[in-house]
Amino acid sequence: EIYFGGLMRGVKPTLPVDFKTLEARAQAALPPATLSYVQGGCGDEFTQDHNAEAFKSWGLVPRMMVDCTTRDLSIDLFGIKLPSPVFMAPIGVIGLCAQDGHGDIATARAAAATGVPMVASTLMNDPMEQVAAAMGDTPGFFQLYTPKNRDVAESLVARAEASGFKAIVVTLDTWVTGWRPRDLNEANFPQLRGHALANYMSDPAFRALLAKPPEEDPQAAVAQWGATFGKTLTWADLPWLRSMTKLPLILKGICHPDDARRAIDGGVDGIYCSNHGGRQANGGVAAIDMLPGVVEASGKTPVMFDSGVRSGSDVVKALALGAAAVGIGRPYAYGLALGGVAGVVHVLRSILAEADLLMAVDGYPTLTDLRAAGLVRRP
Ligand code: FNR
Repeated sequence: EIYFGGLMRGVKPTLPVDFKTLEARAQAALPPATLSYVQGGCGDEFTQDHNAEAFKSWGLVPRMMVDCTTRDLSIDLFGIKLPSPVFMAPIGVIGLCAQDGHGDIATARAAAATGVPMVASTLMNDPMEQVAAAMGDTPGFFQLYTPKNRDVAESLVARAEASGFKAIVVTLDTWVTGWRPRDLNEANFPQLRGHALANYMSDPAFRALLAKPPEEDPQAAVAQWGATFGKTLTWADLPWLRSMTKLPLILKGICHPDDARRAIDGGVDGIYCSNHGGRQANGGVAAIDMLPGVVEASGKTPVMFDSGVRSGSDVVKALALGAAAVGIGRPYAYGLALGGVAGVVHVLRSILAEADLLMAVDGYPTLTDLRAAGLVRRP
């Protein structure tokens, strides 16, 4: 539809269909502090750039004379049926990217419109109950930044369950924020905070820690939030994390095969291979290059993946390397910033259309065929 609209009917899409042009548009349109927050990463951003660059050193070998008239890109993830193998990675403080500030609700509406699940960050502008309600029939996952206070952690997870989220994703790599020069140079923190604290301020266990409700003493509430956010997790915490929920539990930020094995031994349902888009550590190894080792170590346990995915062909490559589902990050944040709900829908549909067409042209009608074939490394 997107392709033939342009080719045959001369219908120009409202937003660009490729990442480079989309990012250039966002760069021109966004206030500098917002752009720094979304586009920026850790250190000199080598890892972040390398995440995307590294996809170019992997390739899919085309197969001919295969009937690809119909393709099946649907998946079953933790028993949840999804129409396509992509999801929206958690983006905290995404309220910053929406003109009305309600970026999580807009993203949830885009999930409702496309069937692409949203992994909703702890750091939302609106309480999770409202965000979950905006997802309609599309399943959502709740991403937990584990607070230091166990009661608050358990309360957030219980609320996520009660709101209808279908899985809990615990992010491991962000108990403290990485060295992000652009945010530091922009002195971004107060602006970010204003779009991030709704789940805490609405939480009964968090409110119980306060002498006065946040509405009466916002400064003290923010200070308490600062003191509560960001537990240092160790493997000794895994039984507790596991005990918090009966929902599928996924650990995000796993890049080493031994960590994948250890997590699976500890009873998790899914591994999420990601280096946080190079925002947390600037070490150099691209996430896509770590995916095959993590997939191998994970055996039958599904591996979600993100970091550096910019196009439909990147999605296809990550799937061919064994990802069970592939996360879109910055591209949808730009879509939101430039076009609201419709902008996110546009970005997701463009990526999915490219993935579908690539599978059709290269002779892979199903994800099973794609995974069996794998990729070749460019010499
Ligand atoms: C993130 N990411 C993230 N991850 C997470 O677990 N919780 C969060 O709140 C956030 N917040 C966040 C904000 C912004 C602005 C970005 C860009 C990213 C990381 C995210 O889930 C994902 O791992 C990366 O976005 C993947 O990298 P690319 O593909 O976006 O470069």
